[in-house]
Order: sequence, then C-alpha cells, then structure tokens
Amino acid sequence: MTFDVAAEAYDRFVGRYGEGLARGLVAAAGLQAGGRALDVGSGPGALTRVLADRLGPENVSAVDPSEPFVAALRERLPGVDARVGSAEALPFADDEFDAALSQLAVNFMADPEAGVAEMRRVVRPGGAVAACVWDYPGEMTLLRTFWEAAAALEPDLVTRRDERTVMPFDEEGELADLWRRAGLADVEEGELLAVASYEGFDDLWAPLELPVGPSGSYAVSLDPGRREALRAELRRRLGAPEGPFELSARAWYAVGTA
Ligand SMILES: C[S@@+](CC[C@H](N)C(=O)[O-])C[C@H]1O[C@@H](n2cnc3c(N)ncnc32)[C@H](O)[C@@H]1O
Repeated sequence: MTFDVAAEAYDRFVGRYGEGLARGLVAAAGLQAGGRALDVGSGPGALTRVLADRLGPENVSAVDPSEPFVAALRERLPGVDARVGSAEALPFADDEFDAALSQLAVNFMADPEAGVAEMRRVVRPGGAVAACVWDYPGEMTLLRTFWEAAAALEPDLVTRRDERTVMPFDEEGELADLWRRAGLADVEEGELLAVASYEGFDDLWAPLELPVGPSGSYAVSLDPGRREALRAELRRRLGAPEGPFELSARAWYAVGTA
C-alpha cells in the first residue's frame, strides 16, 4: 500500500503541509474545548497533534490502517488513543465523540460512503463531522505539477495513476455532496490554504523515491532513465529552483452536523 512507509518519509513529503491545514480544518469544524474528537486516517498525526493541543491528548483518538504511522503517532503523542483500523469499520461505539475529522484521507478510503457513515455513527447528535481533500487538479502545486510532468513524458503510463483524474473527491463541491448524501445536516464547504518550505529541489524530490503516496509509487516504478527525466521535468516546471523555495497548496473542506 502507498502509505506503508516510515513516518519520517511522509513528514518530508506532504506532511510538511499538515499542521497548517489541520489548524484550518479544526477552525472550520468549530471545535470547542472540553469535547472528545476522533482523527480518521490520521497518518503520523498532523491533525491529531492540533486536536490534542486544543482538547488535551486524553480526549483525542486516532485511527489509521498504516501500522508504521500508528506506531509513530503513539511515540509522538503518548496520551492519545491511537489504533490501527479503517474508516469503514471504526473501532468505536455509537455517539462516542463530539467531533470526527479526517484530513486528506477520504480519497484513500476503499469505500468513502461507508467511511463517512461510520464517522457520523460515532459522533453524538449535534456534533461535527469534517474532512478536507487536496485540490489535486488545481492549487495543490506539488502534486499537480508532478502529474503534469509525468503526463507530459509518459501519457500512456500515467492514465490510470494520475491523482488529478483518479481521486473521486478533488473538485469544489464534491466532498460537500458526499457529506449531504451521508445525511449530515447544515453542510458547509470552503477552501483551506497551506504552505510548505523546501531547502532546495532535492529536498522536494528525495521523499518521492522512498516512496511515499501514489506519486512516489509511480516515480519508483520508472526505470532509472525515465525517472531522471521525470525529476528534470518536474524541476523545470517548478522554475528550476537553485535554493530554498515555498509551495502553496489548497484543500477543499466540508463540515456537517451529525
Ligand atoms: C495523505 S495521508 C493523510 C494522513 C494525515 N491525515 C495527514 O493529514 O497528514 C492518507 C492517510 O489515509 C490512510 N488511509 C488509507 N486508507 C484508509 C481507510 N480505509 N481508512 C482510514 N484511513 C485510510 C493512509 O494510511 C494515510 O495515513
């Protein structure tokens, strides 16, 4: 699976955007101090950390199918109840939380409808269910530019792997439609912006080869010559940076009431 990698590899890849995004998602969900919250598809814990800072670690649970990510989360946030599991079968009782949030994970669920239904089930009536997904075809600069470069070089190879086309929820309004279909009330949607800093182009490229995520899996599937061509094309499309630079990223969020 694409996230069966060390947490440090993920941190160096899209983990860089995680904390900024999480602060925006928590604000959008209108989370109040004193409640209990669940992070679904927590990865190594970018959103979990923000929730733990806000509510206290003892009031936060996290679940993710990746064993290395859950192991890292337990080390990083010892007071949090972190479990290996999937959104589609959450290991929690009905109405156990005041809020369930999911950052960048809905597109990776095997059955997103079931995942959201489960998030709704474990939240008490009146509590918040919220998530965000990358704007892959638009303003998620890193991944959009990666797939633009890959498609320019290998259009046939890329067709079934390009996140800009295979992700079911990445256009404005799609996540909110899923939220309404799940029976959530008072659904609101909007955008979240995050920025990541890079020491140089190698700092951006290195985690792809570890590999992390669908883009990393694609990069390492190429033979060395094609991989080097992709690296050069991505660098060119990012303006051939010589030193430190920043990239911005946009995610769409939806929040509704259980
Ligand atoms: C892009 S990462 C996001 C991780 C973290 N939420 C963050 O913001 O950094 C996607 C996560 O979804 C998890 N995932 C994959 N399938 C899942 C499922 N069926 N239910 C819950 N999480 C899942 C992956 O293991 C991975 O940690």
